[in-house]
Amino acid sequence: MSVSAAAPGRSVCAPLPVLGRDVTVPLVTGGEVTYAALDYAASAPALQRVWDDVAAYAPYYGSVHRGAGHLSQLSTDLFESSRRTVAEFLGCRPDDEVIFTRSTTDSLNLLARALPAGCQVFVFATEHHASLLPWRGAQVTYLDAPRSPGQAVDALERALALRGPHGPALVCVTGASNVTGELWPVAELAAAAHAHGARIVLDAAQLAPHHPVSVRDLDVDWVAFSGHKLYAPFGAGVLAGRTDWLHEAEPYLAGGGASRRVTRRADGSVDVEWHKGAARHEAGSPNVIGAYAIASACEALTEAGFDTLVAREQQLIRQVREGLAEVPEVKVLSLFGDDAPRVGVISFVVQGWNSSHFAAALSAEYGIGVRDGLFCAHPLVRTLLGGDPQARGECGAPEAAPGEVSLNAVRVSFGAGTPDEHVERFVSAVRELVRDGAKWQYRTEGGRCVPVV
Ligand code: ALA
Repeated sequence: MSVSAAAPGRSVCAPLPVLGRDVTVPLVTGGEVTYAALDYAASAPALQRVWDDVAAYAPYYGSVHRGAGHLSQLSTDLFESSRRTVAEFLGCRPDDEVIFTRSTTDSLNLLARALPAGCQVFVFATEHHASLLPWRGAQVTYLDAPRSPGQAVDALERALALRGPHGPALVCVTGASNVTGELWPVAELAAAAHAHGARIVLDAAQLAPHHPVSVRDLDVDWVAFSGHKLYAPFGAGVLAGRTDWLHEAEPYLAGGGASRRVTRRADGSVDVEWHKGAARHEAGSPNVIGAYAIASACEALTEAGFDTLVAREQQLIRQVREGLAEVPEVKVLSLFGDDAPRVGVISFVVQGWNSSHFAAALSAEYGIGVRDGLFCAHPLVRTLLGGDPQARGECGAPEAAPGEVSLNAVRVSFGAGTPDEHVERFVSAVRELVRDGAKWQYRTEGGRCVPVV
């Protein structure tokens, strides 16, 4: 996977219009500023185009797969055409299937429930919890943190070679880290998996919003992502890929929609014949608005020219990284080093600052929204901070009072809707906070730093 570069200087295209771009927030020091949403890795703002498409459809909303009326037919068609749009966006093979879920976490849990008996799972301990934890019912091998993409491939090769060629196996890997933004060598890991008779699922939660993904070109067996990180925050996600394991598995949820025929047996008990196909794992009324919103976002990114958006984002990344590099007290977290290709997700610690305090000051004094904590990737962040990867911690909870040394990190993340000004404001705010300190007093409340009012 290569990431194209843009010439230095101003952005190569305008940001895509997103909701909330004119929202102002109060500053604790007085006055208001437009909100700088720099937490895209958690949830990206909705694209204006997505919102408009959903609003245009809303009056025609009807039940999916379960109504005779005109609007039910229309909604069913929209749901199914959204599936095709997503399949095209992901470069799926003709036999692949797109299943609409609630999120990446839901998609990976669904796949985990569909593993064939005796399936061995291989996963790097550096994964986001959504990719790390769903496999705990299977026989899992956790691979140590690699310090380069090449080391990742070697470690996987070694682990797979040890297992021998017997039985089903699955590798789960992220496309881009939600902590460092660094890209993982997905095509190489897929080749290694397949050479050893294993399959591979790509967690594209942080990749798909920032970079084109092709199931066919990467040769992955499944891909998962979330709508809310892809500018479509309407409660839907996607699992796309091969059908065999999924069709053979028990439905993820038992209920209407997944069942083709339900009968009473002579003894009075109930028998059920489940659907094959995506419906098998989509029990309950489908989230047509969520699915359509994802399809709309896929179209918007494609029509805007994904390569141009990538080039623009690379420019913003350079701006942030160069800005942070000028502040000696800031240490950017990285697994693969400065030259690794990456998306717009950057985590760092500031010497002498608790990360929650720093993030609170960015919000209260500059109107900038970032995330602080361990980012639901506790082992990875602890490895990067040099802490104990076995140690426990609450997701997002600060572990030191304001002014104490940081045990967790600050993360800034951005994407196709981010104006240059947000990134410029962030860089100068970091510089100013480190140089002058916070202008306000903060205290810890409910595990978070908040301004003293
Ligand atoms: N996975 C999301 C994040 O990294 C929630 O913030």
